[in-house]
Amino acid sequence: MISIDPNDCKRCGRCARVCPAAVYTHEKGEIPVIAKPKHCIQCGHCTDVCEANAILHPDFPTENIHKVQRELIPSPQSLMELMKSRRSNRTITPAPIPTEALSDIVEAAYTAPTAENSRKVVVTVLQGEDIQAVEDATMRFFLRLAGILMSPLMRPLTKLFLRNLYNEAAELYRFERKWRKGKRPCTCNGTALVAFSTPRSYDFGWQDCNLAYQNASLMAEAHGISQIYMGLVQTACKFIGRKKTARLLHLPKNHKLYALMALGMPAFYYPNYSDKPRKSNL
Ligand SMILES: Cc1cc2nc3c(=O)[nH]c(=O)nc-3n(C[C@H](O)[C@H](O)[C@H](O)COP(=O)(O)O)c2cc1C
Repeated sequence: MISIDPNDCKRCGRCARVCPAAVYTHEKGEIPVIAKPKHCIQCGHCTDVCEANAILHPDFPTENIHKVQRELIPSPQSLMELMKSRRSNRTITPAPIPTEALSDIVEAAYTAPTAENSRKVVVTVLQGEDIQAVEDATMRFFLRLAGILMSPLMRPLTKLFLRNLYNEAAELYRFERKWRKGKRPCTCNGTALVAFSTPRSYDFGWQDCNLAYQNASLMAEAHGISQIYMGLVQTACKFIGRKKTARLLHLPKNHKLYALMALGMPAFYYPNYSDKPRKSNL
């Protein structure tokens, strides 16, 4: 049950003003009324906006409410520097990712906004042999596809109608050579894979997972850890089937993969960043 401590409440009504679910009503100078507690979406706006910590909310016990430390928030300039210098640095080494950094990355993912605060995103971290299994499944899928599309019979049609795929075949065979030598080109030799999934039936899986991805990505960058979006693996997963994808990535039951990130310690950092040309201006 949500309640308001009448002794602490300053009667400012801010809780009623910010609540997106209209749980509270407020008359000027009065203690707000908790009119529709069942509408609460557990977003915590009311507890966070209350200067007096007068709202007692079962989902937000006082030990989980923290004063914002404004001095720790990056300046626009430092945030811009982080975003501009962030790179999909593919020089990943076998060095382990520090445990604390990994847990910061996961925590950052869970801080992202979700539609109606539904918080259905689950972040799954894979390491060791599990990554090899993802690599192998991806590589085998693309080799099978290439085997069909580049067969003597299909090759002319592929060249004519699937020009992009045809052009990418050379890249695939380069990947295959690396893979046969024990490298993991599809997963960029990542030492961790981070999967973002939501229940299959949920409507905002793409949006919520990719917002979580971006938070995690910037946190990784702040820790000096490489992160690369695993589009190739995600494409393979579309075709290899739900069950196999869920098994490979250890997804919760009935979950769908919406984003996948490879992480690892880079061999070196880039000393420069260049302004990204906007394609619309090219
Ligand atoms: C949806 C998406 C899919 C991607 N898939 C891959 C991938 O499978 N392998 C890879 O090495 N990089 C992948 N990338 C990384 C892009 O190639 C990279 O972001 C882009 O070249 C810009 O480089 P930057 O991230 O260093 O700025 C992907 C990026 C996005 C947004």
